Amino acid sequence: MTVHFIGAGPGAPDLLTLRAARLIGESPVCLYAGSLVPEGVLAHCPPGARIVNTAPLSLDQIIAEIVTAHEAGHDVARLHSGDLSVWSAMGEQLRRLRALGIPFDVTPGVPSFAAAAAAIEAELTLPGIAQSLVLTRTSGRASAMPEGETLAAFAATGATLAIHLSIHVIDKVMAELIPHYGPDCPVAVVWRATWPDQKIVRATLGTLGSAVGAELERTALILVGRTIGADDFAESCLYSVDYDRRYRPMGTAPRFPDSTP
Ligand SMILES: C[S@@+](CC[C@H](N)C(=O)[O-])C[C@H]1O[C@@H](n2cnc3c(N)ncnc32)[C@H](O)[C@@H]1O
Repeated sequence: MTVHFIGAGPGAPDLLTLRAARLIGESPVCLYAGSLVPEGVLAHCPPGARIVNTAPLSLDQIIAEIVTAHEAGHDVARLHSGDLSVWSAMGEQLRRLRALGIPFDVTPGVPSFAAAAAAIEAELTLPGIAQSLVLTRTSGRASAMPEGETLAAFAATGATLAIHLSIHVIDKVMAELIPHYGPDCPVAVVWRATWPDQKIVRATLGTLGSAVGAELERTALILVGRTIGADDFAESCLYSVDYDRRYRPMGTAPRFPDSTP
């Protein structure tokens, strides 16, 4: 018996990995974080599976479900939205399972920042503009930010920011970022990326407040930085004809002649 922790992706059921779909299909128990995991993903559950929405449960109740499945010898598909490496609450569950000696494995998923970047057709690291992406959030009721992890501190680097869990404090976010990026810095808000009702708002730090309507609440990602919508940037050396690289060494025959452009 194994508990399969599975990143269920940003929302679209076909943005699940093949491994995730297989594991869900093989597990007689499915525990899913109902607020963000869409029903379409649950269509992979086998007929007769025990399917439990964990949104209203406490950690103790979730672990009790897993222990019951463990005692019955039933695999569990444990679904969280996006990828499990950020804001999934997987860490505390793994700690409990380690203590109980219950086996588990982890299958990554498509994170919401990647889905949001795809929605606005953007590369978030462009040569000469930004080479770092910060995945961050602001303080919430459930989790305070550690001292030092402020938006201002991240903004001081000029990196592209992917700000999660913060659409409800959008005005505060903009006020904190404007001194670093300037009011003309591009911003995109992607609400419910990949869901059928996905919405995109493009603006600048100075204009975003009025551009975001009250209807865009909860599941939204705020992307900030000069990479958003940029057109004026250098080409990377990777495909440059005069760049000496492993697969196209200068002055010698290419190692893979057929695949060299
Ligand atoms: C609890 S976190 C989960 C993050 C998730 N583990 C991931 O990999 O993206 C929830 C936040 O992620 C962002 N989010 C999750 N799914 C999203 C989506 N489909 N579109 C836009 N933002 C999303 C929002 O900022 C939301 O408040």
